Amino acid sequence: MSVTASAPGKLLLLGDHAVVYQRPCLVTAVDIRVRVEITEQDTDTLDILTPELTARGERRTIPLAQLHQERRRETAFVEAAVAHVFEKAQQQRALRIVTHSAPRSYGLGSSSAVTASTVAALAALLDLRLDQKALFDLAYAAVLDVQGTGSGFDVASAIYGGTIYYMRGGAVIEPLDVGDLPFVIGYSGEKVGTVNLVKQVARLRDCHPTVINPLFDLIHTITDQGRDCLLRRDWAALGDLINIHQGLLDSLGVNVPQLARLIFAARSAGASGAKLSGAGGGDCMYALVDETSCAAVKAALRHAGGEVIDQKLHAPGVCIV
Ligand code: PMV
Repeated sequence: MSVTASAPGKLLLLGDHAVVYQRPCLVTAVDIRVRVEITEQDTDTLDILTPELTARGERRTIPLAQLHQERRRETAFVEAAVAHVFEKAQQQRALRIVTHSAPRSYGLGSSSAVTASTVAALAALLDLRLDQKALFDLAYAAVLDVQGTGSGFDVASAIYGGTIYYMRGGAVIEPLDVGDLPFVIGYSGEKVGTVNLVKQVARLRDCHPTVINPLFDLIHTITDQGRDCLLRRDWAALGDLINIHQGLLDSLGVNVPQLARLIFAARSAGASGAKLSGAGGGDCMYALVDETSCAAVKAALRHAGGEVIDQKLHAPGVCIV
């Protein structure tokens, strides 16, 4: 028996960092998909093959009895996902797991996508019949096991797809009925890592709670108003909110020159809004464009040293393929 699942990446639109502190965020799924193929086998091991390991002529083999012991970096999310589904099912199986992902993920959520795909494929293989929230809970627990931190917005985006209004831990997961999203994504280059940036913001908040907490409240207001703008397709107002939000992320100290260059280049080329997406420090930004500014904004991003990521947004969530 063999089951394959695929899940999308994500683009965080509004609510970055504030979502860690019980404020909402808005996230859309990006059609950079990770596929996970799970097959039962006649061994007493879990064999995991990823593009990275296969390129080195390696694979990860774990005796089932040792599944809860130390995890290997390259396969940690898959191992944690399998452990959580086995625990839920109260059974273990010997499996061969093969992951397929795009050569580059641009910080757009490949860890959450591989976790969501593994959980969904294994749940289907074991005939667990879980709804989206139950899949989310398992995948989020697996991600927390590996990373120790995170609001789970990326996991929710991988499971539910589309565009969602989300609160930490899945306290609120509200799918939004939006049509085409007029955003262009620009990749600025690698960053130091989400966990470090989250810690940096936590330190700032510890030192200046009376300054930083109201700033998170403002991001909350922007996210709520942004959701309404998105639903009304009021692009002029959404552009203003995106730019104000970027100012607040600058205040948190997570912007860097390579992102700022892309943000200003996009605005100068006619984008009505532009901000970084996610933790900051690198990775991606996005710009709000219209038919007349779209080509100029893409050209400006490339000219400023960025890479334009031309992928469908509001993509479908995890599915069995
Ligand atoms: O850098 P990314 O794309 O993983 O996004 C992190 C977003 C944060 O709000 C900073 C952290 C989180 O877990 O929500």
